[in-house]
Formats: sequence, structure tokens, C-alpha cells
Amino acid sequence: MKLINENFIKIPATYLFSEIAKRVNLLQQQEPDAQIIRMGIGDVSLPLPDVSVDAMIKAAEEQRHSTTFRGYGPEQGYDFLRKAICENDYHSRGISMEMDEVFVSDGSKSDTGNIGDIFSSDNKVAITDPSYPVYVDTNAMAGRAGEPGETGAWSNIVYLPCNEANGFVPELPREEVDLIYLCYPNNPTGTTLTHAQLKKWVDYAREKKSIILFDAAYEAFITEENVPHSIYELEGAREVAIEFRSFSKTAGFTGTRCAYTVVPRGLMAYTRNGDAIALNRLWNRRHTTKFNGTSYVVQRAAEATYTPEGKAQVKALIGYYMENARIIREGLLKAGYTIYGGINAPYVWAKAPAGMSSWGYFDYLLKDKHLVTTPGAGFGASGEGFVRFSAFGSREATIAAMKRLE
Ligand code: MLT
Repeated sequence: MKLINENFIKIPATYLFSEIAKRVNLLQQQEPDAQIIRMGIGDVSLPLPDVSVDAMIKAAEEQRHSTTFRGYGPEQGYDFLRKAICENDYHSRGISMEMDEVFVSDGSKSDTGNIGDIFSSDNKVAITDPSYPVYVDTNAMAGRAGEPGETGAWSNIVYLPCNEANGFVPELPREEVDLIYLCYPNNPTGTTLTHAQLKKWVDYAREKKSIILFDAAYEAFITEENVPHSIYELEGAREVAIEFRSFSKTAGFTGTRCAYTVVPRGLMAYTRNGDAIALNRLWNRRHTTKFNGTSYVVQRAAEATYTPEGKAQVKALIGYYMENARIIREGLLKAGYTIYGGINAPYVWAKAPAGMSSWGYFDYLLKDKHLVTTPGAGFGASGEGFVRFSAFGSREATIAAMKRLE
């Protein structure tokens, strides 16, 4: 008999953003003339930086000639990109980083989802609540999450509530955990941790020998001082943390696909016998077996974002979206909403009117205002009562959306 991985029938039937797309498509069919404004999934609206497009054209041209054509590249990424990453994202901030600690990939969604391959399914996992749904879903698929309860919470996951009461700063878990997912600047709340707040987690992980899986996909949107861009700014973090970074939001690569994961060489986890094993070696083994490298053309596009011209173009993209975030914040405040985020992140977390659920309010905004948001409850129980507005739309659409809410 052919047996399935039964964990797949325990998880919700559709992925959060697929469910939203389904509801939006249905409305568009029912009301073909509706001018729907999309502030749901964090998909960028501006085109790629010119430097990246030029680099891709040049790289594509190289593929035409036998002398410059490239077949399989190194699975971990070409040296030219790994070097640019080390120098620009780490050395420039005084963080030591070697090329072989950087693994280029096709996205942080894949990396944060796949990282579980190198960890035992017996590990106790802690996840901030609300969170990017990939963390919970992939742990559930791997059988690490236990059983789903009536509220949708999994029996084996330690949820770390981030809510108004604690200022969206998760408290250290009471029970010991092995793997901890942190995403800062946070998706979905748009809030951040200061150096001191993140240090507590690094200290905890060092003491308990746990691993922090730090998703820093939104670091480029930080505008305030005292917000770490990388977990490795914290002393000792290289002993306990894996970091995920992405070109998706930073440089508009959501469709182009490029990201990277850092696994420091000295980062260890243990066998049942207590032998320390380097995670860099395991991730390298996993990556080389299951992944054949991000395309050469795309890696050249990513490399170009680190040139002086590229940096200026990326800065302009970020500035555009952060001005949208400001407009959303201002518009929602004027309309009487209680809001969070949007200062160091392209997401604004808004409280639904009293008595309305996340999905109820999402449906109301979709049907009555033709506005697509993301229901907070889709990110976890602590997201109930909130909706998330994305700042990745066009300026025109962002302004029009706020007018509809006046
Ligand atoms: C989001 O809207 O949360 C993100 O765009 C989803 C993603 O990055 O996959």
C-alpha cells in the first residue's frame, strides 16, 4: 500500500496566501469591474533596479557563446556573489564572515522551510506568534509540531506570543526549547527588537545550547538606530544562530528569486550521544544534494545590487516603499485605527474594529472597500483581531486605499 506523509493532512488545506488569492479571485469574478487594491501578500510593485537588469542582459549574452557559457554552477553560489555578500552585508558592519559560511539560494521561503531537514524531529521548537506561516507549516510537515488542537495550535510547538500587552517583544520560554524562530524586523507585525532585547535570546541560546533561526529578510527597511540588521551584531551569536537574508523585498527579486543563508562554521548541534557536529557541514551536504544552485544570470543580478550604483537604486526602492508605509500609518491613524509597525518594516499591523475577527474584517475590507489585506489570525492565534497592510504597492494605489478608509 502506498502510504503518504500523514502530517500533510493535519495542516490547513491551503497555504495562507493561496487562500487569500482564492478569495480575491472569487470577488474579481463576481464583480469584474471592482478596482481591487492589493495590500495583502508582500509582493513588490516596482521593477528591478536597472543595474540588475543590465547585469542579467550581460550574463544572458555570455550564455550565447561557448567561451563564456556556464553550465552547473557551485550549489552554494558563485564566489563573486558570496564575496560581495560577505563584504557588503557583514564586513561593512564589523562582522566577520567567510564565503563558505554563505549559501546562496532561490529564496528565504525555501531556506526557512528546508532548514528543518538538518534537525532531528525530536527537537522542541519555539515560534513567535504571530509568524510567517512557513515556520509552523514546515515543522508540521516534518512531524515536529505534534498534533493540531481545536484552535489550530500545535501540541509540540512552544508559541511565543507577541501582542500589545508585551509590546510585541516575545518573552523567553518557560520550558527548554531547541530551535527558536525569530524574524526581525518582524513579519507580520512590522515591529523590531533592540540590540538589548535580541541579546537576551542570544544569551538564552548560548546557555541552553539552542539554535536561533533568524529571518532577517526585512533588514534593509530598518530606519532607526539600535535595531540590529544582523543577529551577528550580537556577541556570541555566531555560536548559536543561522541567519536568512533575501533579495526579494530589498531589491525587488520576488519573481527573480535569490536569497542566502548563513551557517557559521563554528555553529554546532549534537548527536544523541552528545557529539558536536558542525551544522555548516550538514547544510552544505543538504544543499549540494537537493539544490543545483541559483541561476548564474540571477546571481549576477544580485551581485549588481552591491555596486555603488546598485546601492543607490536599492536605497531608492526602499525609500519608496517606506514612504508608502508612512502614508499607510498616517491614513490609518487618521481613520482612527490602532496601529503598529511600518517604521522599520514595510508592514503595518492594524487592529480590527472592536468585536470583529481578523477574517471577518479582511472579508469586509475586500467586499466593501475592495482592499486586500492579510488577516492577522492567518499568522497565528496572537494575530487574531488584526489585519496586516503591505506597503509594497504603488504610491497611487496606496493613497487611493487610504482614501477608501477615510
Ligand atoms: C508575506 O507577505 O508575508 C511575504 O511576502 C510572503 C513571502 O515572502 O513568501
